[in-house]
Amino acid sequence: MSNDDVNSGRRRFLTVATAVVGAAGAVGVAVPFVKSWSPSAKAKAAGAPVKVDISKISLGEMIVVEWRGKPVYIVHRSEEELASLAKVEGRLSDPESQRSVQPEYAMGEARAIKPEFAVLVGLCTHLGCAPKFRPELAPADLGAEWLGGFFCPCHGSRFDLSGRVYKGVPAPTNLDVPPYRYESDSVIVIGEDQEVA
Ligand code: FES
Repeated sequence: MSNDDVNSGRRRFLTVATAVVGAAGAVGVAVPFVKSWSPSAKAKAAGAPVKVDISKISLGEMIVVEWRGKPVYIVHRSEEELASLAKVEGRLSDPESQRSVQPEYAMGEARAIKPEFAVLVGLCTHLGCAPKFRPELAPADLGAEWLGGFFCPCHGSRFDLSGRVYKGVPAPTNLDVPPYRYESDSVIVIGEDQEVA
């Protein structure tokens, strides 16, 4: 292999690496990427649970935290947004989450321990892109029937505000719900299961 081959291979790698960093940066502009206060970065990468203060998430807002190297979306849903979940059911591919990944205690249309806070792994179940949070009603690009949810820019998969996938898109299942529990009213621990009574 000549030096030129090595260099062009390395250039390709650098281009890809830069593109990935660029994409992560772009997400950070729109949505706060919140640093959890424990544990250390090394322990987190190894899969340690992550504590998140959810008390500062305004109504209608989403934050992103990192757990096991994956983005986890936490959305503070309003009454109207929760009411919209029933309205889109007929257009969903797995409305009861029978084929999707979530803990037992996060079944049902809200797919959450407390309905007002959705906790979802922010990776599209098609090929793993990060879906965009699109809470607005009927934006021009998503159509008059859009009641808020997530849109994957890679191949157009659509999900409702519980991460449930629409029919007729490439993603086969709903966004995953990670294990989590409430440590207090304002703190959740991602990566540890809620005790079911
Ligand atoms: S990765 Fe999301 S639609 Fe393909």
